[in-house]
Amino acid sequence: MAEKSKILIIGATGHVGKLMVEASVKAGHATFALVRKSTVSDPVKGKLVENFSNSGVTVLYGDLHDHESLVKAIKQVDVVISTVGDEQKADQVKIIAAIKEAGNIKRFFPSEFISEIDVNHAVEPAKSILFEREATAPASDKVTILGDGNTKVIYNDDRDIATYTIKAVDDPRTLNKMLHFRLPKNIYTVNELVSLWEKKSGKTLERTYVPEEQLLKDIQGTPKEKEKTD
Ligand SMILES: NC(=O)c1ccc[n+]([C@@H]2O[C@H](COP(=O)([O-])OP(=O)(O)OC[C@H]3O[C@@H](n4cnc5c(N)ncnc54)[C@H](OP(=O)(O)O)[C@@H]3O)[C@@H](O)[C@H]2O)c1
Repeated sequence: MAEKSKILIIGATGHVGKLMVEASVKAGHATFALVRKSTVSDPVKGKLVENFSNSGVTVLYGDLHDHESLVKAIKQVDVVISTVGDEQKADQVKIIAAIKEAGNIKRFFPSEFISEIDVNHAVEPAKSILFEREATAPASDKVTILGDGNTKVIYNDDRDIATYTIKAVDDPRTLNKMLHFRLPKNIYTVNELVSLWEKKSGKTLERTYVPEEQLLKDIQGTPKEKEKTD
């Protein structure tokens, strides 16, 4: 059997990055984490880096803005996964330049772990509801449902994103492809989710539906939307 690729994670101390490191180690890949030296003095991140080392990860010091450090790190691996934050996305051209110079990389996964809907620029009243997406139970006995609640939505846990990205590393079917995570058991309508909550809590929840026309009117009344029309 072919040997598993050696993986470098750039952005390893971030939210998605640390899950990626965990998934890579768990899948048995030799795992390398690029860490900024200054980050180690942060108590929480310093502990995380210590945990990386304890779980067999090779910690390499470097920075997106330090070309030599990138090339040196990249030369030690087969695959590079970037999990840098939104602010650093444009700077990923620096990773590509270093990959070109190193000349040994089989695959590069850019930091494009995005949702198919744009939650970052959502407006009220949808915004608060979208950002409740990690809720494990409703906050009260009443739930507000936008539309008829029958649209199917795919829910993904960030850990699964990491697990399947790592599975894609040595899977030729995913080469130069955009990968969509649509786990069949994670597809629910909001009505189905509310029913699940009811089943779990043993309580019947009062459902208020906001019809599409009303929702559009409410959105047009939000400050951001008003700015556009003024
Ligand atoms: N967070 C979420 O809920 C979420 C959900 C869906 C998708 N995503 C996507 O996942 C990706 C990663 O987002 P995230 O939230 O995990 O980001 P994050 O927590 O902000 O982590 C960013 C990482 O980039 C590192 N970094 C920043 N500047 C750097 C530099 N100059 N050189 C080297 N490393 C640098 C940070 O290092 P330090 O630790 O040293 O600061 C950190 O490890 C993005 O594409 C984002 O859109 C995130």
